[in-house]
Amino acid sequence: MQNDRQASEMIDLRSDTITKPTPAMRRAMAEAEVGDDVLGDDPTVIALEKRTAGILGKQAAVYMPSGTMTNQVAIRAHSEPGDEMLCDDNTHTYFYECGGPAALSGVMMRLLPGVRGIFTAADVMAALRPPSVHFPPTKLVFVENTHKRGGGSIWPIERITEVTKAAREARLRTHLDGARLWNAAVATGISEAKYARHFDSVSVCFSKGLGAPVGSALAGSAEFIARARRFRKMFGGGMRQAGIIAAGALHALEHHRDRLAEDHANAKKLAESLAEMPGVELDPATVETNIVIFRVTKSPAAEVIERLKAEGVLVLATGPDSIRAVTSLMITGEDVDQAVAAAKRVLKGL
Ligand SMILES: Cc1ncc(COP(=O)(O)O)c(C=O)c1O
Repeated sequence: MQNDRQASEMIDLRSDTITKPTPAMRRAMAEAEVGDDVLGDDPTVIALEKRTAGILGKQAAVYMPSGTMTNQVAIRAHSEPGDEMLCDDNTHTYFYECGGPAALSGVMMRLLPGVRGIFTAADVMAALRPPSVHFPPTKLVFVENTHKRGGGSIWPIERITEVTKAAREARLRTHLDGARLWNAAVATGISEAKYARHFDSVSVCFSKGLGAPVGSALAGSAEFIARARRFRKMFGGGMRQAGIIAAGALHALEHHRDRLAEDHANAKKLAESLAEMPGVELDPATVETNIVIFRVTKSPAAEVIERLKAEGVLVLATGPDSIRAVTSLMITGEDVDQAVAAAKRVLKGL
C-alpha cells in the first residue's frame, strides 16, 4: 500500500487548473516579444487576441488575467446597475465568483433550473416579465459550456440555438462562459466558432485544460470589446508586459487543443472503473469531457478524500457526498490506472 506519498508524486485530479507549463511553453514565454499592453504596444498580446477572435469567429478579443474577470467584465459591459441576468442555478458565475455581478455591476442573477447546467428556451421565456416600472429590466442570458458543476456536460448545439433564439426574440443579450469551450469542440467536432456564433460575447480560458499558466479572453463585436476594455481597466485588469504570459496562451492554442481528446479518454476510463465500485454512484455515460463527478454512499466525501490523499490521489468535494476528479495534461493513462487501484483500496476499506 502506498501511504502518504510526497506532494510531487501525487496524482492530482483536483482540477485542470493545476497544469504547469511544458518546457516548450516555457521557452515560448521566455522568448516572447513584449511591450506595454495598456498602451497597446505588446505584440504578443495583440497576436493572442487576434488569434482567439479568429478561432471564435468574432471581430475582436481582449486578454485578461482570469476567467472570473472575463465573465464579470462581460456582465458589466452588457448591463447597467439594476438590471437582471438569467443563468442556471449551478453556473460558475453564481457559485464561485464571489457575488461579482451584484458587487461589480449591480446586476441581479435570476436562476434557471438547469439539468447538469443546461436549461431550455421555455425556462428563459418563463422568466420574462412584461415591461413595467416595477420590474428589473432583464438584459442578459448567460450560458456555461462545458458546464463545470454539471460534470463537464456539453450543451447540445440545438439547445444553444433554441435558447439564444428565444433570448434574441426577447431582445436580450447573450454571453457564453466558454472556459472549457475547447473541450466541447474537441468532444463533438463542432468548432468553437460554430458554438460562438450564437452569442454576443464569449469568454474562454487558456489556463484550464489548455495548460497555460495565466489568462482568459473575452471576444465579441469590435464595439463591445472596446467597451469591455474600459471595464477591464476599471476592474484593475490592465497589464503591462503581459506578452510573457500571453505567449504561454498562444503556445497552448496552437499545441494543446487537439490533445484534450486524451483527457476525455482518461476521464471516461476513470468513470467506467469508478462506476463499478461499491459505494459509488456514477453513470459513466454522463462523462462527456474531462470532469468526473460521482456520489459516495458509504462515508462522507471528506473522509473518502482524506483516504484517497493518503493513497497519493487528490480530488475535491463538490458537496457533502459528491466528489470531483478532473483529468488534464498532467495526468497519464498510467496515473488513471493507479488512481483506480487506490480508489478500489479506499472504497473496500470503508
Ligand atoms: C466554467 C468556468 N468559468 C469561469 C472560471 C473562472 O476562471 P478563473 O479561475 O481563471 O477565474 C472557471 C474556473 O474554474 C470555470 O470553471
